[in-house]
Amino acid sequence: MSQKPSLLVTQRLPPAVEARAARDYIVHRWERPAVSLAQAAAGVDAVLCTPFDRLDGATVAALPASVAVLGTFSVGFDHIDMAAARARALPVVNTPGVLSAATAEFSFLLLLAAARRAGQGERQVRAGAWLGPSPATFLGIQVTGKSLGIFGMGRIGQALAVMARGFGMTVHYRNRNRLDPALEQGAVFHPDDESFLAASQFLVLCAPATAETRHWLNADRLAQLPAGAVVVNTARGALVDDAALIAALAGGHVAAAGLDVFSDEPRVPEGYLALETVVLTPHIASATHETRDAMGFLALDGIDAVLAGRVPDNIVR
Ligand code: DGY
Repeated sequence: MSQKPSLLVTQRLPPAVEARAARDYIVHRWERPAVSLAQAAAGVDAVLCTPFDRLDGATVAALPASVAVLGTFSVGFDHIDMAAARARALPVVNTPGVLSAATAEFSFLLLLAAARRAGQGERQVRAGAWLGPSPATFLGIQVTGKSLGIFGMGRIGQALAVMARGFGMTVHYRNRNRLDPALEQGAVFHPDDESFLAASQFLVLCAPATAETRHWLNADRLAQLPAGAVVVNTARGALVDDAALIAALAGGHVAAAGLDVFSDEPRVPEGYLALETVVLTPHIASATHETRDAMGFLALDGIDAVLAGRVPDNIVR
């Protein structure tokens, strides 16, 4: 029997994914920071990385020639220099589709938690500072029946729209292209930022991080949101100009925010930490047992396929 192919896994994965990787591959580990990714990948057939690894142009270029495919345990691939991967004809596979429900439900959790001041209340109870129920404290913003703006109406945005309809919300969206009416299901497409922002009492960012979306939510666009808007980001920190959002929160124009992603993870800007109106979570929107297993299996499916000479559906184009 021929020897199994070898796979460098950059981070510890969920047990079922680790078990499948160990069944099908000789698994190598990256002992950082003592060795570089290129050194760790010496002689391996494939690398499975995560969004918590930064694969800039130099890192991708330095990967040994033995590496025939790069998988990422994520739908996002902004952490990989794709131009460098293309330059050396290195196929990249990711995990689209399988994390849409988990990410959408966590976006809704942040939306509710921020609007209803759940984080602030929880901190007060844990600190032993709760003095008892009171009719006029912890008044939040009701979600039911309000308008939701979704920036980026891909699979995650569409899953979020389905959940929002259950709360009687009117859904507005901004997307490169208008969806088919069958997928739109009554959501209102906005061809420009102005009308979209004006309609978004709740704004959820669901778009990928690209050169075009970098700092999309800046001071100018924040000012166009209705007063008292709530902002949620489960996409990528790079979409937000943090100084501008912190100023809008501190000044009250944005009433609350729920943030799961940050530009320089795990570093979180001090300005957010100082604000009671912000709910902060550690990039866990897709972190359910079911979804993280499915992500790992899909990434491995893609790596298996490329090594077997096939072109998988989850290849990044
Ligand atoms: C993704 O898949 O890009 C998520 O951010 C990782 O959980």
